[in-house]
Amino acid sequence: MQDAPVHLVIESGIARLTLNRPKALNALNSALFTELASILDDLEGQADLRAVLITGEGEKAFVAGADIAEMRDKTPDEAHAFARQALTTIKRLERLPVPVVALVNGFCLGGGCELALACDWAVASDNAVFGQPEVLLGVIPGFGGTQRLPRRIGPAMALDLITTGRKIDAHEALRIGLVNQVMSQTELEQYAETLAKQLKVNGTKAVRSAKQAVHDGMDQDLDSALALETSLFALGFAGSEQKEGMSAFLEKRTPNF
Ligand code: CAA
Repeated sequence: MQDAPVHLVIESGIARLTLNRPKALNALNSALFTELASILDDLEGQADLRAVLITGEGEKAFVAGADIAEMRDKTPDEAHAFARQALTTIKRLERLPVPVVALVNGFCLGGGCELALACDWAVASDNAVFGQPEVLLGVIPGFGGTQRLPRRIGPAMALDLITTGRKIDAHEALRIGLVNQVMSQTELEQYAETLAKQLKVNGTKAVRSAKQAVHDGMDQDLDSALALETSLFALGFAGSEQKEGMSAFLEKRTPNF
C-alpha cells in the first residue's frame, strides 16, 4: 500500500487522493493512471461522498508533469494510447458527481497543471509553481491543456503560457484565475477540514445537482443550458432536501439533511 502510486483515504465523506511518486516529483505514468482508474471505480459508486481532494506526496510537488522517462521512446501510436488513457481517467475524475478540488502543494507543471484544470477548482500553497512547459520538450500539452486552460483563463493568457512554456508563481496563478485561493502549506493541509465544514451544512443532492448543471451546461448553448438549469431546479422540489431546507429556514432551526 505504501508503494502504491495513488493513496486513498476517506473521512467524513471527503475522499483524499494522494499521488505518490515523490522521487519523480509525482510524475504521471501509466501505472499511476491504472491505479487512479481503479480508485475511481470505487468512488463512483459511493452515495455518501461529499467531495474529493487530490494532492501530491511531499512538500515539493503536486505533479511535475507526465513521466518524461516513460514517454521518451514512445512511438506516435504509443503516445496516442498513453494520452487516451490519461484523458479518459482525468475525465472520469472531473465528472465525479461531487466537487473535486486540487490541493497544489508545489510544482504543478505540464500534465500536473492539466490534472488540476480538470478539477472543479484548485487551491495552492504559496510555494506552488505552475506552467505548461511541453514546448521545451518538443511537444504540446497532451492531457487536455490546450482545451481546458483557455476555457479557464482565456485564450490569450493560455497561449502565452503554452507557447512560451514560462512558469508562474502561485500569486500570478491566483490573479489569472488558475487557482481560487493561495495559502500556507499548513493551511493547505487543513483544507480538507475547512471544506468538510462548509459542505456538511449543505444538501448533498443539491450540491451534486449544482455541479451537474454547471458541467453539462458548459457544453451547451445558453438557452439549452438555462433549460437544463430549470429542469434540475424543479427536480430539487421532488426530494426531501428542499422541504427540509426551506422548513428549517422558516422555523429558524438548523436543517437536518
Ligand atoms: N517526469 C519524470 N521524472 C521527473 C519529472 C517528470 N516530468 N519531473 C521531475 N522528475 C524527476 C527528475 O528526473 C529527478 O529524478 P532523479 O532524482 O532520478 O534525477 C527528480 O524527479 C527530481 O527532479 P529534479 O532533480 O529535476 O528537481 P529540481 O528541483 O531540480 O527541478 C523541476 C524541479 C523544475 C520540476 C524539474 O524536475 C522539471 O523541470 N521537471 C520537468 C517538468 C516538465 O517538463 N513537465 C512537463 C512534462 S511533459 C508533459 O506533462 C506532457 C503532457 O502534457 C502530457
